[in-house]
Amino acid sequence: MILKDKVVIVTGAAGGLGREFSLRFAKEGGKIIAADIADTSETARLIHEAGGEAACVKVDITDFASVESMCKTAEDAYGGIDGIVNNAAIYAGLTMEPFHQITEREWDRVMTVNAKGTWLCCKAVYPYLAKRDGGSIVNIASASILEGNPFFAHYTASKGAVWALTRSVARVVGEQGIRCNSITPGYTMTDASRGLAGDPESFQKNYDYSIQTRSIHRAMEPNDVVGGVLFLLSDESVFMTGQNLNIDGGCINY
Ligand SMILES: NC(=O)c1ccc[n+]([C@@H]2O[C@H](COP(=O)([O-])OP(=O)(O)OC[C@H]3O[C@@H](n4cnc5c(N)ncnc54)[C@H](O)[C@@H]3O)[C@@H](O)[C@H]2O)c1
Repeated sequence: MILKDKVVIVTGAAGGLGREFSLRFAKEGGKIIAADIADTSETARLIHEAGGEAACVKVDITDFASVESMCKTAEDAYGGIDGIVNNAAIYAGLTMEPFHQITEREWDRVMTVNAKGTWLCCKAVYPYLAKRDGGSIVNIASASILEGNPFFAHYTASKGAVWALTRSVARVVGEQGIRCNSITPGYTMTDASRGLAGDPESFQKNYDYSIQTRSIHRAMEPNDVVGGVLFLLSDESVFMTGQNLNIDGGCINY
């Protein structure tokens, strides 16, 4: 149990990757704060059913007061915070369009949640991790920042910001023995990914392309990402900070 008694916040824990992370961290002995703007009670129920510990928190990561309240709830529930996985983002429902067709409003919405929201979570959790003289921040970026994807320029730029932010944060929090790393997952089969293409034909095209361009020619499932996040969150990566772990089955198109 490599997270035994560690208190871990997972943002975006209502479903998809965030739920997958939460379930596995709880199995590894972690006490989970399942946070999302959406309802996380099903995630908590699944954890409790498996004998783990979890509490639900409603949070809007673009609102600092809300993010601070999430951290306070974690401390009140479990006595402190040892780690956070900044996984919440605007991903589901994005429209596949090139950069010159994205509206300013949509650009701002995506940047605000994905880049600013991740920054606010790092900022709010920092004093709590410092109180414990250590801890781990794992930011979920995306392999799209390496690919040169013709669509989702706003999303890709926001995830590039998450990667860059990670390196800056690592430089500061290292003073207190806190680590900050990022993960760049490839195209993973979550509900959000399935819905992204809009129609079944476009989905199939994306799906086939993702498999062809990997060294390991199969679909990437949520469980494929979990081990890397777990490693960065746990003491197994105790001298690793400011780094990015790319998990995409060995993509060969960049
Ligand atoms: N699925 C993939 O192929 C893939 C690939 C690379 C990176 N990622 C990243 O992994 C993460 C999870 O992806 P997913 O496929 O599970 O997508 P998802 O859209 O299902 O998950 C995002 C979660 O964030 C929550 N959220 C959105 N705005 C929020 C806000 N303001 N405050 C709090 N929560 C908010 C949503 O409610 C949702 O539960 C995202 O950061 C995504 O960008 C996914």
